[in-house]
Amino acid sequence: MKKSAIVASFVAVMFVVLPATAQAGAESRCKSCHAFSDKNKVGPGLKGVYGSKAGTHAGYKYKFTKYMKGDPWVWDEAHLRSWILDSKKAVKEFTGNPKAKTKMGSQHVKGKKADEIIAFLKGLK
Ligand code: HEC
Repeated sequence: MKKSAIVASFVAVMFVVLPATAQAGAESRCKSCHAFSDKNKVGPGLKGVYGSKAGTHAGYKYKFTKYMKGDPWVWDEAHLRSWILDSKKAVKEFTGNPKAKTKMGSQHVKGKKADEIIAFLKGLK
């Protein structure tokens, strides 16, 4: 293969692969249970979740709402970060109830991956 052809195919591969993997970071961790739309799957649809009140997505039957007292918390950066790191622990903290449970298993997402996912959720309007 000519050098120019090699360079051209390398550039082509970069264009195809890079955006796909950047998005897969966020999606691959959540999309088995969540749609990034209004639709509910195993978990509630995540469109518009950033800045919304916890446990209020239309038509979804939550488990953790049973343990809430008073106003729900808002899904801001700090809440989302704790949630995707360890939802089982976070739900106890957020509700102030040591017995609180959630259907969502702990995902152990942190660092740059967590930044990426939170940025992705912010963009889902
Ligand atoms: C194994 C399935 C599963 C995976 C994977 C999963 N979730 Fe969940 N998620 C759920 C379920 C089920 C609920 C509802 C929890 C309940 O009712 O207790 C939920 C609830 C939530 C909520 C609360 C929404 C609301 O309306 O209050 C957020 C935010 C959330 N998940 C974000 C995420 C993100 C971000 C990821 C990817 C890092 C993720 N989840 C991965 C199953 C999952």
